[in-house]
Amino acid sequence: MSNVEEIKARLAIEDIVSESGVQLRRAGKNLSGFCPFHSNTRTPSFAVFPESGTWRCFGQCNEGGDIFKYVMKKEGLDFAEALRRLADRAGIQLRPTSPMEQAAKEQHGRLRDALEAAVRFYHQQLTTTPAGSQVLAYLHGRNLTDETIATFELGYAPDALEPLSTALQQAGFTLEEMLEAGILSQADDGRRYPRFRHRLIFPIRDANGKMAGFGARALRDEATPKYLNSAQNPLFDKGSLLYGMDKARKVIRTQDEAVLVEGYMDVIALHQAGYANAVSPMGTALGEQQLRTLKRLTTRIVLALDADAAGDKATLRGLEVARKSLDREADPVFDARGLLRHEGRLQADIRVTSLPDGKDPDEIVSADPEAWPRLLLAARPIVEHVMYSLAAGKDLQDAKVKRELAAQVLPLIADVPSPVERDSYTQKLARLLQVDERSLMAERPSRQPTARRRPSAPAPNLPEARPLPNIEDSTVRLESHCMGIIVRQPELLYRVDRALLEAGLPRLSINDFEHSDHQEMFRLSREALEQNEQEPYSYALQKLPMSLLDRMEEILQRSEEFDTEDEKVFEDLLRTFLLLRRRVLRKGNEQMRYLQQQAQQEGDLKASEYQQLMIQNTQTLLRLDQALANAPKRGLPQGRLP
Ligand code: UTP
Ligand code: MN
Repeated sequence: MSNVEEIKARLAIEDIVSESGVQLRRAGKNLSGFCPFHSNTRTPSFAVFPESGTWRCFGQCNEGGDIFKYVMKKEGLDFAEALRRLADRAGIQLRPTSPMEQAAKEQHGRLRDALEAAVRFYHQQLTTTPAGSQVLAYLHGRNLTDETIATFELGYAPDALEPLSTALQQAGFTLEEMLEAGILSQADDGRRYPRFRHRLIFPIRDANGKMAGFGARALRDEATPKYLNSAQNPLFDKGSLLYGMDKARKVIRTQDEAVLVEGYMDVIALHQAGYANAVSPMGTALGEQQLRTLKRLTTRIVLALDADAAGDKATLRGLEVARKSLDREADPVFDARGLLRHEGRLQADIRVTSLPDGKDPDEIVSADPEAWPRLLLAARPIVEHVMYSLAAGKDLQDAKVKRELAAQVLPLIADVPSPVERDSYTQKLARLLQVDERSLMAERPSRQPTARRRPSAPAPNLPEARPLPNIEDSTVRLESHCMGIIVRQPELLYRVDRALLEAGLPRLSINDFEHSDHQEMFRLSREALEQNEQEPYSYALQKLPMSLLDRMEEILQRSEEFDTEDEKVFEDLLRTFLLLRRRVLRKGNEQMRYLQQQAQQEGDLKASEYQQLMIQNTQTLLRLDQALANAPKRGLPQGRLP
């Protein structure tokens, strides 16, 4: 594949376009929005075609092209520049920049070749040896056709020590390389032996079909672990791989939906039955990296889970706890809080469907292929899934049961970013428990971002309506308080500036913030005011670097209660900024006093300069205090201010 092709395979045009600031709406298979290249805010004449990876303006511009053309036009780059930028974005090395990188790249290539040779070896063992024929019979017994076995390149790793290394050596690979590729392991005494012995082999490829590693299922019941993976290595990064992705990719994009199942066999059985949009995170809870890979293809993701996977153990505890308590290599844990967080951040629509009586998708489609689409249709949003699974089999007339259920579900509801969704879940919970919605609302925990950071902490009983002890430094608190208001209502900046200028003080700048995340947000809010293509609020959010999204989310949640139209909010904002400046000046004065004394002791002439600065500082402080005294105090939330 050429660089350009590879970039196109890896980057979704819709992502690039929306990230450039164009809001896209789904319109059937494609997306549309306002053309970023001519001004028109009435007709969304701009279309994006995910399938072909192209775009076109049907309005005034009447122009179109691919991802490169888009970036060139949008950013005013030439082709080479756009290529460099997009390659970077796609994580593709265009030209090795150093001999070391060149060497690493060649080595990866070698390792992949070794893995390809191993795929062929294992497959041959399965299809041409006596030991393999028993495994083949096992696979046929599990309803797999020869075609499926060939498509998924299934294999058999023999019990013997020699054949793998002999075969690969004949193909030109050294034992070192086999070790590096994770198909040989090394004992303490230095002896090398095949990592997989007497196991059924599932080659794992990345989304582009490149070999990454293997999953290997034990063929004897007593062998542990039941599944053994390649060791983590530069090619095998379990956190970003999804089993079956190389084959599901196209289908996920055209059907605009991905289905996640737990196991290798589930993926294979579903593909064989014609449901080729199934992939598996291979025993781990779906992670951010995997979701990102999926999100390039679709935002609609259905998790097909074992019905009891939403039991309280798995739901409210995080991964760590569950991992420690079970001795598997990895555990398929349904981490509802983690998923909700990803869902909000990636703007995905994640739903969950429960599989009946602890059955695998594999067993379900083998018994009745028609049952599968019905199960998918029954998928519910994460919160509802947890709610109904927890309620199943419980006596909902019992007041204690009601209370316990509410205690488990309410913190999850509090995690949902959208207020509308939150209310709808609260209503559903009230109906399920047959309690008054208002009493549930009273139990509803206030949204506490610090608690969301640690999804592993289960809510032992109903959270009381008292705030968590505030461990944050109060400057962070004050700054984020201001940011929360500004991001929602950047126009207030104009008013604050005017008030400051009237008081003889300089207008706001990024230097009014100490923390660079807030500085960056502030910069974006100003920028948002200076453009007029979009609502400032959405502009700032869209421009925000990924690394700041978490922080922004926290800030937005905290400021949710503010009605930014309220005059009191403006007054509060102005006062808080004045107080922040005051703090800085005071801190500065303290510091200078210290420096001045030191200088005096050392007979340094700078002492008077410090003195001079302190005088200036103090003058500003006086002006500030005057401004503060003049600023309206009416109805200020005094408690929040120091
Ligand atoms: P299961 O135990 O349900 O196996 O684990 P399975 O996929 O249904 O396999 P069959 O049908 O018995 O052959 C589900 C998934 O969890 C991961 C694997 O990805 C497996 O497919 N797993 C399981 C591990 O990674 N390690 C283990 O030891 C067990
Ligand atoms: Mn199974």
